[in-house]
Amino acid sequence: MNIQDLKSKFIEKYGEGEVDVFFSPGRVNLIGEHTDYNGGYVFPCALTFGTYCLVRRVERASFRFASLNLPFQAELSFDQLTKPLDDKWVNYPLGVIAQFVKRGITFEQGADLMFYGNVPNGAGLSSSAALEVVTAVALNDVYSCGLDRVELVKMSQKAEHEFAGVHCGIMDQFASGMGAKDHAIFLNCDTLEYDLVPVKLEGAKIVISNTNSPHKLDSGKYNERVAECNQAVKAICEKREIKNLGELSLDDFDSLSGMIADEVVRRRAHHVVSEIQRTSDAVAELKKGNIDVFGQLMNASHDSLRDDYEVTGLHLDTMVEEARKIDGVIGSRMTGGGFGGCTVSIVKDEAVDQFIEQVGAGYKSKTGITPEFYVAEIGDGGCKIG
Ligand code: GLA
Repeated sequence: MNIQDLKSKFIEKYGEGEVDVFFSPGRVNLIGEHTDYNGGYVFPCALTFGTYCLVRRVERASFRFASLNLPFQAELSFDQLTKPLDDKWVNYPLGVIAQFVKRGITFEQGADLMFYGNVPNGAGLSSSAALEVVTAVALNDVYSCGLDRVELVKMSQKAEHEFAGVHCGIMDQFASGMGAKDHAIFLNCDTLEYDLVPVKLEGAKIVISNTNSPHKLDSGKYNERVAECNQAVKAICEKREIKNLGELSLDDFDSLSGMIADEVVRRRAHHVVSEIQRTSDAVAELKKGNIDVFGQLMNASHDSLRDDYEVTGLHLDTMVEEARKIDGVIGSRMTGGGFGGCTVSIVKDEAVDQFIEQVGAGYKSKTGITPEFYVAEIGDGGCKIG
């Protein structure tokens, strides 16, 4: 759907008049998984698919919400903006509006909002972050709030915590808000310092494989991992005061891991510390043009997420195993929260067709599910587009 089509849909729904259009992308993370809420590094990039938000300010003292993807719609008065609804998509934009209210921003006029998204839902490509960030960017612009971009990103993350109940890190919202075409973001999730690194793959492409087995971040498994990491920090603090696992080098971990009595929690922490190291190594290799080493580090990342962190499962592991059978695959791993969703692979140009055919067939024969593939283009972060 192009901007004109979207505007026509808006007018059909809400009537004639001016309307502004905003867009924020989904993301794919190249390496650095389950490190963000541990103050570590991540390396995501924004995609060219995402969520559109059309907005018009109105005299009425209420906000109306509609989506072109999902049937539920709502009209909420100003005093209903800070409480979640019962399990509806509107909670994502509403959660963001609540953050504006909490910052003391008062809306003197309401608005009509319409959303349209083309990120596959539940695929682990941050459809929810795209929805949150596009709302934040749109309201900030339409109501001239003057908040800076990182603030909008943080408000979007808070919305996820408070209205979706997922204690996520900042990676997804940051990538959606701060992404840049053809670059990945090397982000220190503790300080929020970041570096935009050109993704030059010289004869290779980023291929996203959707297992079509929905990841369920809200299933509690994600929050369970967050809790296990906190448990590890607490155990280590008996010997050395740390704020988060991201402060430890692998050598530190070797000397302190004995403090963690629970073997499972120790493995979780080992994943985090080793993944942070792999991420900074991978970025250094990419900058030097060593794509092969970058790919090996991606593979090691997946193996650690499978064995130590246990967030992969049959679908993601099968997809990665099938991918690694293809000669032109430089690296392949799960991406995002895990427990279903997508993998990301770096595939030589000449092997992309074969990859899609063979990985698709191999995965289907082992799981009975037909997967989907997207050759990713790296796009810009959220902005006004019309
Ligand atoms: C989800 C969360 C992110 C991050 C990833 C795992 O996408 O929203 O904050 O923790 O999982 O790396």
